[in-house]
Amino acid sequence: MRVLVIGSGAREHALVARLMTEPEATEVLCAPGNAGISRIARTADVAVADTDALLTLADREAIDLTIVGPELPLSLGIADRFAAQGRLLFGPSAAAARLETSKAFAKAFMARHQVPTARFRTCESADEAFAVLRAGEFGSPVVLKADGLAAGKGVVVADDRAAAESAVLAAMSERRFGASGDRLVIEECLTGPEVSFFATSDGTNVVPIGTAQDHKRIFDEDRGPNTGGMGAIAPSPLVDAALGSRVMQEIIEPVIRGMAAEGHPFRGFLYAGLMLTPDGPKVIEFNVRLGDPEAQVILPLLDEPLLPILMAAARGALNRSPVRVGGDRLTAVVVASRGYPESSESGQPIEGIEQAEGIPGVAVYHAGTAMRDGRIVTAGGRVLTVVGRGTRFDEAIARAYAGAMRIHFDGMQYRRDIGRSALRIAD
Ligand code: AMP
Ligand code: GLY
Repeated sequence: MRVLVIGSGAREHALVARLMTEPEATEVLCAPGNAGISRIARTADVAVADTDALLTLADREAIDLTIVGPELPLSLGIADRFAAQGRLLFGPSAAAARLETSKAFAKAFMARHQVPTARFRTCESADEAFAVLRAGEFGSPVVLKADGLAAGKGVVVADDRAAAESAVLAAMSERRFGASGDRLVIEECLTGPEVSFFATSDGTNVVPIGTAQDHKRIFDEDRGPNTGGMGAIAPSPLVDAALGSRVMQEIIEPVIRGMAAEGHPFRGFLYAGLMLTPDGPKVIEFNVRLGDPEAQVILPLLDEPLLPILMAAARGALNRSPVRVGGDRLTAVVVASRGYPESSESGQPIEGIEQAEGIPGVAVYHAGTAMRDGRIVTAGGRVLTVVGRGTRFDEAIARAYAGAMRIHFDGMQYRRDIGRSALRIAD
């Protein structure tokens, strides 16, 4: 089977690396890929947003299945475009991707289908938002969310009215997130630990594929601004079998049924960001793809070939028993450039990747890297993900950091506490 993976991050490197080990994958192509992916698979220099060129590429390469990594092409309707040409693709239609691309849609959808989430109001103007804040129905702190995609920066947890009002002005008057902030969701602030729950659906059937915990803030002890994710562990020690079944019954299955009933069956990876509140698990957000760096810790745990599962899902025939997940523990440490997340440097030579990869139980996935004069250099904010694997979290964490410590480039930064909270609960 000939497979095309779309994307250029460490998530896609992990996907490609996984597929390369599977006998069903006779050819794996990645567009556009990165310096690490091009060492293990063929890459094609086509941008993720260029859906026409990606379709032409899939035709020319006689691709049997296209797998989409990031949300951008999904939001642009790549699944609809491929479907119209009869080309098989794993990923949701633009209408189904609204679970991620419009928080107002996702919240209203959850309300229609009794999926547990924070109480909320959707506001179309600053005046409406001020009125909601004045009424004070959600108390304090209160959470404000830009409706559309905002690169992880569209959420403000406001401690008081003044902070909430300035968040309204930033989104709706200054238009800091462009059109994404022209609608706002205002919601109650939930408390509890956060976990990421992943499932795969064909539009009707759905199977869980794993759980993880992200580390979103740039600095240790969850300080500093939010990032795309500075590390992850899998599985989440907070989700046992009983809680996993409850999440499937109360959240994942109603979402898949509801989307089908509304005429937009959800076919793809569904990633639910959950908060484990005293009243049970509630949805913080949905993503319609795998997480990054969560994919780097979830995919290696799957104890059976991934490609047949994704192929069946893309065909609408995922009628099967649960996916087998192994018992190991994984820890991912993201290595970033100086200045990330506000800005990032590029062009710094990177040393030590092969030494890190040489450590048993360590894998290195590339994100912002490029080849220059035969050397690997930095090319973006998040540069590499170093993953450690073990039978316990202490071993997985030690391996991930042993790997990270072999790597060097000017301005390199990474968190030193990935997985520490898991150690208190698991092992
Ligand atoms: P999101 O971009 O929706 O994942 O939100 C970013 C972060 O904001 C989440 O990871 C949570 O830590 C926090 N957050 C979002 N919604 C809420 C909420 N209703 N209550 C408390 N924290 C929230
Ligand atoms: N790590 C969070 C995300 O991929 O959305």
